[in-house]
Amino acid sequence: TRHLLGIKDLTREDIELILSTAQQFKEVLQRPVKKVPSLRDVTVVNLFFENSTRTRMSFELAEKRLSADTLNFSASASSVKKGETLLDTVNNILSMKVDMVVMRHSASGAPHFLARHINAAVINAGDGINEHPTQALLDAYSMMEKFGSLQGLKVAILGDIMHSRVALSNIYLLTKMGAEVTIAGPPTLIPKYIEEALNVRVEYHIKKALQWCDVANVLRIQLERQNQPLFSSLREYNLVYGISRSVLDSLGKEIVIMHPGPINRGVELDSDVADGPYSIILNQVENGVAVRMACLYLLSGKND
Ligand code: CP
Repeated sequence: TRHLLGIKDLTREDIELILSTAQQFKEVLQRPVKKVPSLRDVTVVNLFFENSTRTRMSFELAEKRLSADTLNFSASASSVKKGETLLDTVNNILSMKVDMVVMRHSASGAPHFLARHINAAVINAGDGINEHPTQALLDAYSMMEKFGSLQGLKVAILGDIMHSRVALSNIYLLTKMGAEVTIAGPPTLIPKYIEEALNVRVEYHIKKALQWCDVANVLRIQLERQNQPLFSSLREYNLVYGISRSVLDSLGKEIVIMHPGPINRGVELDSDVADGPYSIILNQVENGVAVRMACLYLLSGKND
């Protein structure tokens, strides 16, 4: 069985295949009838052990557009609350003849564990601080739509890198595809090993990173993953590291603004930037459906 657990495991050719398949599904999604019969006899469960708006809606819609049957599972409303294990939960669901599992979990490695123990394709919809592969794929798709290619593109990833699965998946993908990556943010939120380990540059001055880049992917400060605050206050974070219209205006050039959502408005990103002319944030969300259709289709075995 094939799985999508992380970008780390993919080759450049795998990524190109997913993105070109997504392009075909994006064309389908522009038609009056947006549905195709590709996964008519496939059943998918969306297992969410952690909150989500975009990823969960996007997978469910992608499955429906592909004519798959879908089941939605929220840990908070399930027998997990009575102490049932992850593996018991999934095996019970699979016994109802379910073919594929999409899973988000707060534990890094949870989908890898599942993939070793069950006989169904697993798609990682975000595991702890490890990876969020479909987010990186939809980010890449959105950058290619804007710039034509990732080769040589200068991408700055800004903010809370330490707790970000989006950052890690983006770094793996962008470096495999020939883009240049600079990580920028407060020293307390950037892991020390990252420069040597992952072939990226580190910049602690946000404005210098913005002056260098073509695209800024601004990340959310993930307060829920910090046991104690790693900077003095959100107000201060906004003053030093937040992206405001005045900072962008002072660059003397245009850069594209991305954010995976949900946005902490007025913290990492001001509203006039998030909603401004250089933002492609809602294009990212739109492209997520086509990208997830591609992942589901390619892993279903229906294209073999
Ligand atoms: N980008 C993202 O993963 O958003 P959700 O947490 O709402 O799914």
